[in-house]
Amino acid sequence: MRAGMRGHDVLVVGAGLAGMRAALEAQAKGVDVAIMSKVYPVRSHSNAAQGGINAALSEEDSWESHAFDTVKGSDYLGDQDAIEILAKEAPQAIIELENFGVPFNRDETGRLGSRNFGGASHARTYFVGDFTGQAILHVMYEQLLKHGVTSYDEWFVLELARDDEGAVRGVVALDIKRGTIELVPAKAVILATGGLGRVYEPSTNALIVTGDGMALAYRAGAPLMDMEMVQFHPTTLKSNGALLSEAARGEGAYLINKHGERFMKKSAPIKMELASRDVVSRAEQIEINEGRGVDGCVLLDMRHLGAAKIMERLPQVRELALEFAGVDIIHEPVPVRPGMHYQMGGVKTDVWGQTEIPGLFAAGETACVSVHGGNRLGANSLLETVVFGKRAGAKAAEYAKGQKEPRLSQSWVTDQEKRIKALFDRPPGEKAAALRLEMGTIMTRNVGVFRSAEGLEEARETILRLKERFARVSVQDKGRVYNSNLLSVLELENMLELAHVIIESALFRTESRGAHYRTDYPERDDENWLKHTLVRYRDGQHELSTLPVTITRWQPQVRQY
Ligand code: FUM
Repeated sequence: MRAGMRGHDVLVVGAGLAGMRAALEAQAKGVDVAIMSKVYPVRSHSNAAQGGINAALSEEDSWESHAFDTVKGSDYLGDQDAIEILAKEAPQAIIELENFGVPFNRDETGRLGSRNFGGASHARTYFVGDFTGQAILHVMYEQLLKHGVTSYDEWFVLELARDDEGAVRGVVALDIKRGTIELVPAKAVILATGGLGRVYEPSTNALIVTGDGMALAYRAGAPLMDMEMVQFHPTTLKSNGALLSEAARGEGAYLINKHGERFMKKSAPIKMELASRDVVSRAEQIEINEGRGVDGCVLLDMRHLGAAKIMERLPQVRELALEFAGVDIIHEPVPVRPGMHYQMGGVKTDVWGQTEIPGLFAAGETACVSVHGGNRLGANSLLETVVFGKRAGAKAAEYAKGQKEPRLSQSWVTDQEKRIKALFDRPPGEKAAALRLEMGTIMTRNVGVFRSAEGLEEARETILRLKERFARVSVQDKGRVYNSNLLSVLELENMLELAHVIIESALFRTESRGAHYRTDYPERDDENWLKHTLVRYRDGQHELSTLPVTITRWQPQVRQY
């Protein structure tokens, strides 16, 4: 260990949009802030967000309408106090981003231009072509540099360090470039490491999205909420799971089956292709399962949009389809299918990002506030990162101001040194990549768009076997410097735990709601299940319980699009 690592008031783990926004806000509150990420910040997965960010900015729209669409989209599982905050603070968040320098598309009058998105009753998605996340991420990083936030680039957090009372007081982390293990003290830690997409195979998520923050919080005793709610995006490529943005349907693309029928008229006669994602993904899977698909897919048809609109609004969609499916969307429909995209659940927080553990905060996809409930609306995730990232940053700074300098035992480091040494000392055995593929394959097959007790139990058995086999996974590369082999083993350990949590939560919820569709319990059951699921880690076991949903003004209704 390097002698005397400097402590910080607030340490943010994860440098995507939620993390960066949290860091900027904490810094603005006058405390010392650092951000730590396993990748260089602008390589964070927020880069991959394509279609846009929602806000009720126009005079014809209202925050109430945005909030109601979000509640309905969540299948009434979202907490309405948090959703009201999301919708009310959205317009200011967009203006703030514009002022930071995000080059949002403009309409012919020079105002910010918006597009339609799924499940929304107004065109309230603001965008930069079809690479909105990338544009925002780079501008936010400029702000981070401008304000001099300390950045630990390419550091991987191994454990949350706690004091004798159990409060989080920093992290133990691997400096990937040097291979050393360091204790970085902090009065408050904000987890903003994104989702857990690579628990599934394939996924729209980058390979770095391995649920690290959720696993760290879970092991430290923080409950995870609504982990069964995993979103499958309706338009992903069969070859590698790459996302073709919902912006395509927002701009008017059709979904057709092998007979050329727009099959969405059966399940969503009004919104058609712009129903919420859970509804569209199920409709696609039914077409595929009942033999009306094309080679395991349905077709996304954009030909009628014309080359000029495609080149202006959807250049990345065209490039991805060309590169990975060999299809030029200007001339041909492209085969697509539902693919794992987003985890609605996460570390349970209040509306200020506070978890149950003193000193520990979470924001963005890592957290469950919960604004997405059973199903997230497209373009609400970028919004969540900036609204709740900012709030978590403000609260963590306020909390840190009332804390003394952390005093932590060196045993935090020696314990992790022993853990890593034990991994290096294992004899040649299983390979992490093989286990990861088996895990991802069973999760997609049995814990995907449609689920049943039988399939979930089979998935549980598989994951339990994989956990046993994990004890024989070896690190072939014995070097300490930039050891990506070691990282993949540490990430796999996190993912296996989270896969197990998802399955237990999915077995527990004996109803169908949002993205969680049980073929053996096909109805939504408000009487018994208008509740969040919570999972806690107790003595190596998952302890399941429930929590009421917060309802402010919108009582559950039948959900139709
Ligand atoms: O389809 C998309 O552009 C994805 C957006 C989102 O997940 O919010």
